[in-house]
Amino acid sequence: MTFPRTVSRETLDVLAASDPRALRSRRDLRRVNRVMGTCGILIRGIQSITGPRSRDQPLRVLELGAGDGSLMLCIAQQLSGSWSAVDLTLLDRLALVDADTSVAFAGLGWSAQTLRVDALDWAAAPLPPHLPPRWDVIVTNLFLHHFDDLLLPELLSAIAARCNLFVACEPRRAPLALIGSHLIGALGASKVTREDAVLSVHAGFRDSELSIVWPGDPDSWQLQEHAAGLFSHFFRAAWRGVATAKQA
Ligand SMILES: C[S@@+](CC[C@H](N)C(=O)[O-])C[C@H]1O[C@@H](n2cnc3c(N)ncnc32)[C@H](O)[C@@H]1O
Repeated sequence: MTFPRTVSRETLDVLAASDPRALRSRRDLRRVNRVMGTCGILIRGIQSITGPRSRDQPLRVLELGAGDGSLMLCIAQQLSGSWSAVDLTLLDRLALVDADTSVAFAGLGWSAQTLRVDALDWAAAPLPPHLPPRWDVIVTNLFLHHFDDLLLPELLSAIAARCNLFVACEPRRAPLALIGSHLIGALGASKVTREDAVLSVHAGFRDSELSIVWPGDPDSWQLQEHAAGLFSHFFRAAWRGVATAKQA
């Protein structure tokens, strides 16, 4: 059984950052990410570019739709042994990263800054001239599915122009994931999370849907796209010649 992709506004996207329902739903998200093994899925996609880095030339990593930064902190905790010098930017349209999380990144030796901007404005704006034109890695989780089929190519074009490696983990638009989203209350998820989970599966991806929209020259990019875990959909685009071809 397949069903068409439909993008609807999720409740968490319209709640103020400090709204108790949003705070609760973000706590739920942390639990959902743990249960779905998201940290491991993303690490398998990005760890292949590990290489010797110096403090003078840190690895530049950007997360789009970073939320409270807790997922990236999990990644940092696992990778800090091999990724010792990282310049991390956590982009979100809301300011959600708290002081404890920033301190935790610093404790791992990662230099983390937040960027509060809408991703579509980021995509449309020229890059600041003082920065290198490409991030080493751009990561997203539960983010691309917010963009409909008109906006998604715009966002992916900016991403392709601005990184050497892009890794995304999104809801899988498939019957099993839909059943899972209806059962998410079993994890103690709130009403907002329960409703958003179902909407996010309807807005999710399957098969080669992201590869088809990926704008880069096919000879220049190595693409991987497949189911990950029970409910997730994984996409990886590596610019040939820069990121290694190690499989996710
Ligand atoms: C479902 S949450 C996922 C957060 C985080 N990636 C995680 O896994 O915990 C989606 C995040 O994307 C952010 N977001 C949604 N649309 C955005 C946009 N157009 N620009 C920037 N951030 C956006 C929301 O504020 C939210 O923090």
